[in-house]
Amino acid sequence: MSLVLLANRAPIRQTPEGWAAALGGLASALLPVLEDRGGAWVAMREPGEDTPEHQPYPAEDPAFTVRRVPLSEDEFDGYYNGLSNQVLWPLSHYLVEYVLPERRFREAYRTVNRRFAEAALEIAAASDDAPQFWVQDYHLMMVPALLREGRPDARIGHFWHIPWPAPEVFRILPSARELLRGMLGADLVGFHTAGDAENFRESARDLLGATIEGVEVLWQGRRVRAEPHPIGIDVGKFEGLAADPAVIAESETFRSELVADKVVLGVDRLDYTKGLLLRFEAFERFLEAYPELHGKVSMFQIATPSRTGIPAYDQLKREVEEAVGRINGRFAEGAWSPLHYRYRAFTQAELAALYRAADVALLPPLRDGMNLVAHEFAAVSAAASREGHPPAALVLSELTGAADYLGGAVCVNPYDTDGLVRALRAALDLPRDEKRRRLNEMQGAVRELDVHTWAARFLDRLDAPADAA
Ligand code: G6P
Repeated sequence: MSLVLLANRAPIRQTPEGWAAALGGLASALLPVLEDRGGAWVAMREPGEDTPEHQPYPAEDPAFTVRRVPLSEDEFDGYYNGLSNQVLWPLSHYLVEYVLPERRFREAYRTVNRRFAEAALEIAAASDDAPQFWVQDYHLMMVPALLREGRPDARIGHFWHIPWPAPEVFRILPSARELLRGMLGADLVGFHTAGDAENFRESARDLLGATIEGVEVLWQGRRVRAEPHPIGIDVGKFEGLAADPAVIAESETFRSELVADKVVLGVDRLDYTKGLLLRFEAFERFLEAYPELHGKVSMFQIATPSRTGIPAYDQLKREVEEAVGRINGRFAEGAWSPLHYRYRAFTQAELAALYRAADVALLPPLRDGMNLVAHEFAAVSAAASREGHPPAALVLSELTGAADYLGGAVCVNPYDTDGLVRALRAALDLPRDEKRRRLNEMQGAVRELDVHTWAARFLDRLDAPADAA
């Protein structure tokens, strides 16, 4: 059965050497599946982007097609900047004060979802088989029902990559029912955690009057499975990088250039869900509480540019820069800076070098569907420590999907700044054997959730008949 994937972003990118797989777990997991089975990946084309609408890939021996849906400025603004990122994103992360529900957002979202569905149906019409569709994330909530309408015989999956909020929060959305009806066109809806899946089922029950039977939602004569399918990373890739001589060398250079005995690392997109300001406040209190550690501990924070042009993101950038300036202005001494901040994207090899170099990864988002940086750090750090490198520790927000799975992390409530200070101190002071034990435990979990296994399990489950639950 050929597969049509639908995701906001395309899985390939332009490099000086030509087209290549996009960075990130989703593309690395799903491109081999598409290359094996044939089919297509439908994604948006941003206004101003110069890429073909139909692109056979790989060029030399095409296995599938990248189909781009061209968006006008207004469509992009309403669908991506608007409903996706100023309504669904903040609401799903329980940051209701950032929600900006404008009617034009809903209209653009409807139009763009319809165009994605039409493109996918057109591709599926070219083959006699019953199609299999796999929709990704919160940008395309209305697509499953549109696909179902066009192809009642299809198998349709949807994977939700962010948290699903409690029904009382989800129902704040003026279009909550319409969006839920859209997703209930699927046969299988996957989430990171059992709690997210439960919130989804309860939203369908409370808002649409659906019946819940185990993991299934019964609605309008159909059964929709809603269950956890936690995603992970490409473990082989990160474990390989951990042992790569160039990465090891870069990691050592980084350590020797930083004037500090201990390095605390943060890696995030510049997003208000990541809790950057609160973690900086906690680090400031940490420096106040432990003057004996001045000159000895430095924090290195990466913030990858993201969703620029949306006012909340631009404002956060200014506030983060101000906080960095304030902390360094207050505490820097001689060659030592307490806080190093980089606002740019890093390659996976650069990240692996930093993960290897860190003594503690500090990842306290206010809410996160999973947090794959935690997996990447654990994979690299565990692999390095097995080779004799000093083990490191992970401080992780308990309000992340990853906290459900990475039992070896030091978990913390990201809103509790004193708790963050204590957790950071505890992580720095953990005995070596304890750090090793925790890393081993995390390595087991990270391997179990490998993104290739995730994709295979989801697609197997999508193939399984509804009563095989
Ligand atoms: C989250 C979403 C993804 C998205 C990513 C980056 O992880 O779940 O769907 O691709 O953020 O955000 P962007 O808006 O740049 O695609």
